[in-house]
This record gives sequence, C-alpha cells and structure tokens, in this order.
Amino acid sequence: MKTLKTPVDPLHLTDSERKHIPHITIEGNTVTVICGDGIIHPMEADHYILYIELFQGETSLAKKMLHPGDEPKAVFEVENTENLHAEELCNLHGIWGSL
Ligand SMILES: [Fe+2]
Repeated sequence: MKTLKTPVDPLHLTDSERKHIPHITIEGNTVTVICGDGIIHPMEADHYILYIELFQGETSLAKKMLHPGDEPKAVFEVENTENLHAEELCNLHGIWGSL
C-alpha cells in the first residue's frame, strides 16, 4: 500500500512541501500539473521527480514518466475535469498528492 506524504499544516506549507505538492491548473479539457507551487522541484541526477500521475477519484487516468533535466510538469487532456487529483514521486522524498 502506498503512503502519501501530506503537509503538517496545509495552511502554512514549508518550502519542501510547496515544491513537492503537485499543483493542478485546468483550462477547458487541458490539465497541467506542476511540482510545485511557487517553488519548482529540482530535476537533477540525484534528486528528481520520477513521475506525475493524474487520478479521477480512485482511477488513474494517465501517468507521465520524467527524467533528470525535464521540467517537473505534465500536461494531460481529459474528457471530464471533475474530481481530479495528482500525485508525484520524488526519488528522495516519496509520493505526494495534490491538495
Ligand atoms: Fe524531493
């Protein structure tokens, strides 16, 4: 069973939490997920985001694999934008979900 990392205080995020929590923006049917919000997560050889995955409810809609040097970002086209959330896996800091 996977364990999602969650912020200690969602109203007062630390810098580490801000760069790990996937940030979702929706325009029409286009969903953009960036890690993170205001502070971008590094994409270096020894510390990077391995993937960004988009869910609708419990269902995985799509997953983008990432590599060092990539932008920590994924763009998905979806038919229905209801009840979306995203997760990302950092090679050092585990799996984080969008708020
Ligand atoms: Fe990290």
